[in-house]
Amino acid sequence: MKVDVLLGLQWGDEGKGKVVDVLTPRYDVVARFQGGPNAGHTLEFEGQKYVLRSIPSGIFQGDKVNIIGNGVVLDPALFKAEAEALEASGHPLKERLHISKKAHLIMPTHRILDAAYEAAKGDAKVGTTGKGIGPTYTDKISRNGLRVGDILNNFEAKYAAAKARHEQILKGLNYEYDITELEKQWMEGIEYLRQFNLVDSEHEINNLLKEGKSVLCEGAQGTMLDVDFGSYPFVTSSNTICAGACTGLGLGPNKIGEVYGIMKAYCTRVGSGPFPTELFDETGKKIRDLGHEYGAVTGRERRCGWVDLVALRYSIMINGVTQLILMKSDVLDGFETIKACVAYKVNGEEIDYFPYDINEGVEPVYVEMPGWKTDMTKMTSEDEFPEEFNAYISFLEEQLGTPIKIVSVGPDRAQTIERYTEE
Ligand code: GDP
Ligand code: IMO
Ligand code: MG
Repeated sequence: MKVDVLLGLQWGDEGKGKVVDVLTPRYDVVARFQGGPNAGHTLEFEGQKYVLRSIPSGIFQGDKVNIIGNGVVLDPALFKAEAEALEASGHPLKERLHISKKAHLIMPTHRILDAAYEAAKGDAKVGTTGKGIGPTYTDKISRNGLRVGDILNNFEAKYAAAKARHEQILKGLNYEYDITELEKQWMEGIEYLRQFNLVDSEHEINNLLKEGKSVLCEGAQGTMLDVDFGSYPFVTSSNTICAGACTGLGLGPNKIGEVYGIMKAYCTRVGSGPFPTELFDETGKKIRDLGHEYGAVTGRERRCGWVDLVALRYSIMINGVTQLILMKSDVLDGFETIKACVAYKVNGEEIDYFPYDINEGVEPVYVEMPGWKTDMTKMTSEDEFPEEFNAYISFLEEQLGTPIKIVSVGPDRAQTIERYTEE
């Protein structure tokens, strides 16, 4: 059996949570492979809305195994709050959720370090989610991290040593903080974590594959936030790309089957950093209002702009995307005209590839198309699509060299339309 990977092609918030939920019935296992509670994955069904941060989005679709892989960073306090809320809303997860012992723990001092580093950067700050993601991955790579498996053996001493190291750094930064409440909740989170299936998920996932089970890997963030290929240094601290599923779960590259690339019909970004197609005018504001483009967790305003095909072509290449999923098409329902960036102008020269640095001097070159001016939110089949929307889809497919197989026309699970059902 193969493993399929679903990931964001832009700067995150493409709608990954919704689509993982929609696709889960076709799989036996759903697994997160990177990121942590910097993610906010929204799902809507039966009039209810849920935002998941560390728990995979396959948790609502029956008795599937959901795995938090070794590539994820886990904050026990936030995890406890998330899991308890799910249980309280009638979604038991203790049996179904398996957590890798090799996943790294986000400590309270990681969160404080995140804030301290951001403060030290001043105007050059990344605009992180403040969840301690960068400092936790830094400790992982520099071989100083604490892992979930550590809570099973001599934990207090390991925690105290790591905390003391962080305190030294914070002292050097002259950063004032109070850790009391954070630490209390964190320790409660550690105790809570002990009730879960703490597993060697690389063995588990490969054994499940041998038994013929199918796996869907759920990406967090997006390709443009990848630590290697994103708009560095305004990125997150993990590999958000397809290869991250191999390292973040212990899967051989030859196990990867379909790679679903998710994109919005336009583009958004939250936090600092370059965004060539960003709109600062009324159109940008209209997209934000109609698309409810505010952070799922932080409530931060998302920056909005037209779709960037140069960046998308790059994302598709890096990930080996085999099919595209087009999200939030309905947000553009009322627009007279739609624009798409097909090339960049850099120093007066037009280029169609993604350059080394997009931090400065990149000007988008647009193609303009007529909008469809039709409410698509109640449509259930591609036969109902307006002509102009079909033309937009064909244009995107041609520009991106990849088929669009699913179109989303609203936040609800039901507002999802499959194309080309016959292979
Ligand atoms: P994720 O992080 O990729 O899972 O995406 P988020 O949940 O952060 O942001 C996507 C937002 O768009 C959520 O509020 C979803 O409920 C919403 N959404 C998803 N698909 C659609 C769609 O097709 N149309 C509209 N209007 N909203 C959508
Ligand atoms: P989902 O999975 C959008 C952004 C932050 C910041 C940068 C680094 O919901 O799509 P971090 O806290 O990771 O160190 O912040 O990355 N960022 C996201 N933006 N969606 C996300 O997740 C994000 N996770 C991190 O805003 O610019
Ligand atoms: Mg999100």
